[in-house]
Amino acid sequence: MNNRNEKKGDILIVDDIPENLQLLFTMLTKQGYEVRRVLSGKQALNVVKVEPPDLILLDIRMPELDGYEVCQRLKADETTQNIPVIFLSALNETFDKVTAFQVGGVDYISKPFQLQEVIIRVENQLNLLEMQRKLEEKNKELELVNKELESFGYRVSHDLRNHLNVINSIIYLLSKKHGQKLDNVGLKNLKILEDESERMAEMIEDLWRLSESKSNYLDISLESFDLSGVVRKIVDRLKIKMKEKEKIVIIKSDVYATGDEGLIKIAVENLLDNANKFTNKTEQPRIEFGQLQQQDQTVYFVKDNGVGFDTKKGNNLFTPFQRLHQEQEFPGTGIGLATVKRIIELHGGEIWYDAKVNQGTTFYFTFGE
Ligand SMILES: Nc1ncnc2c1ncn2[C@@H]1O[C@H](COP(=O)(O)OP(=O)(O)OP(=O)(O)O)[C@@H](O)[C@H]1O
Ligand SMILES: [Mg+2]
Repeated sequence: MNNRNEKKGDILIVDDIPENLQLLFTMLTKQGYEVRRVLSGKQALNVVKVEPPDLILLDIRMPELDGYEVCQRLKADETTQNIPVIFLSALNETFDKVTAFQVGGVDYISKPFQLQEVIIRVENQLNLLEMQRKLEEKNKELELVNKELESFGYRVSHDLRNHLNVINSIIYLLSKKHGQKLDNVGLKNLKILEDESERMAEMIEDLWRLSESKSNYLDISLESFDLSGVVRKIVDRLKIKMKEKEKIVIIKSDVYATGDEGLIKIAVENLLDNANKFTNKTEQPRIEFGQLQQQDQTVYFVKDNGVGFDTKKGNNLFTPFQRLHQEQEFPGTGIGLATVKRIIELHGGEIWYDAKVNQGTTFYFTFGE
């Protein structure tokens, strides 16, 4: 690939008439392009294979291999198919524009050549190429970041699992060997520890599956389950965190969902955790879980009346580490919503939101049922 910052572009001109070649060559080299010339289609194919140019100006009427044929062969070869081809045609020859585009040409220039027209058409194609290359680079970077995140998740859940095993065996020893020395409160606390670490083990297991499953549906089990019940359990656990403030929590009963219960639990837990966190500074905090019907689709929602946010700034909320609030005010890492989105997309569903500063936030989601 050429470094386009140094060079303006490497152009190959293919024409069996030397005067045409000379004319275009002079025009384009004056503009600072690097120009190569060949007199036949066959030569063109050879040259392109050895050192692919950024752009080809290709005459149509040539003996043996004509321009259409050359273009078709270039487009059929993976290594050359992305090189843009501009056709050259004389005004008096029958030029079939449709065929020109059908065989893969991107533009055409008619003879007699006019300096300005040639330059503009060439520049257009080179600019497009440049944008395409930049996009490809961005995509590659994104892929890399994704891979890193995946292996990061994998490693974290693996390490957490090891630590948790140690904690679990100590809890077990404590209750077996020293349980009788504890009073009722002590025993109750030990039970909470046991339940919590069991729950944590489940979560790690689910996250592990999530990081392994990448973006295919293979590992997703589809079962219908009582989502209201799941939400109730999560809220009960959250209530321990809700300390001083009494929060109004409304949970619609008998809401069922179809999907992977373990994963959906993680998703809803993250949404409720946010709803709880972002109502911590609200006067009369209120959190609601419910369901509504939109056309034929079941839409679930988690709604709060907390700090909200400016939706104009919310573009990247579902990207890892994106946060709209100060760490000192509302602590967090910014991984929650990225996980939620991932889980929902694994189910073929969608997630979106509605928010207003100081009035609250609602997250809506579907599971593609
Ligand atoms: N219910 C909500 N109300 C207001 N802002 C929200 C709400 N939910 C999410 N946000 C905004 O979106 C950001 C990203 O949310 P996300 O759950 O990914 O991260 P977090 O809660 O900050 O950290 P983590 O979930 O990793 O502990 C939050 O930092 C906050 O700015
Ligand atoms: Mg969160």
